[in-house]
Amino acid sequence: MPFYLNCRRLFPTSGLRPVGPGLLQFSVAKPDNVRTGESGLPVGFADGADRPARVMLETGGSGRDSEAGPVSSTPVFSTKEWEMARITIVYHSGYGHTLKQAEAVRAGAGSVPGAETVLIAVDAEGNLPEGGWEALAAADAIVFGAPTYMGGPSWQFKKFADASSKPWFSQAWKDKIGAGFTNSASLNGDKLATLHYFFTLAMQHSMIWIGTGLMPSNRKAAQRNDVNYLASFSGAMAQSPSDASPDEGPLPGDLETANLFGQRVAGYAVKTKG
Ligand SMILES: Cc1cc2nc3c(=O)[nH]c(=O)nc-3n(C[C@H](O)[C@H](O)[C@H](O)COP(=O)(O)O)c2cc1C
Repeated sequence: MPFYLNCRRLFPTSGLRPVGPGLLQFSVAKPDNVRTGESGLPVGFADGADRPARVMLETGGSGRDSEAGPVSSTPVFSTKEWEMARITIVYHSGYGHTLKQAEAVRAGAGSVPGAETVLIAVDAEGNLPEGGWEALAAADAIVFGAPTYMGGPSWQFKKFADASSKPWFSQAWKDKIGAGFTNSASLNGDKLATLHYFFTLAMQHSMIWIGTGLMPSNRKAAQRNDVNYLASFSGAMAQSPSDASPDEGPLPGDLETANLFGQRVAGYAVKTKG
């Protein structure tokens, strides 16, 4: 029997068929407790009660349980908004290399069903674009990114971090997911100091930190472009050789690492969205 759900957005991989603006049709076996009308469509509960129905969607491995409103005579289940988890990446890039890493994090996060992404660039003066603070306020996860300059984040990122003392006062980012990534010219280059700075910033905001969850590629057979060759657990690291253009660096394996890191952050955000 066909059912309908009002949905704001569809999971990209849901395989469910949109039949109108925000309307989703799917077929299920008729549940015992549902009463159908002459047309065979559901018109209410068998016991006549007008109460919220609960609909379980199985969508190719990413099934979600959705609260539905009362069954109506027009076989439409009015559901509460099916909310996506919002992953907001706020980063600075002086010369375009860290931008590539940020885009890879975003691509990874955006590939997770149920996640939507926002990329916010801190500009050359250390300021956010219009709407940037609002986007951060609406985020479920905030991912910090900056190049490592002189063993720490660029001053532009630090200016943004200092300006975040405003949401800090009200602990507005409390319990959001926090994560971070950095890119620099050297294999090491003190990148961990930058990630530690991001971690401290997240802790000041009472956020929940999430690392890469990626094992290091550190065996004899390891190749430079293997995933997590730079072996970072705390956050994603990338190397752009000092003479590489943004098209040449970060190196491909580090971009793949950034993508997987984005997937991990988004996967966790979707899981904990509730
Ligand atoms: C002022 C400055 C300081 C830097 N300090 C470091 C450093 O401490 N460690 C490192 O490995 N690379 C360092 N670099 C190299 C940058 O991290 C590297 O070029 C990076 O790819 C720049 O990223 P961007 O294009 O996003 O600005 C520094 C570069 C600049 C301009």
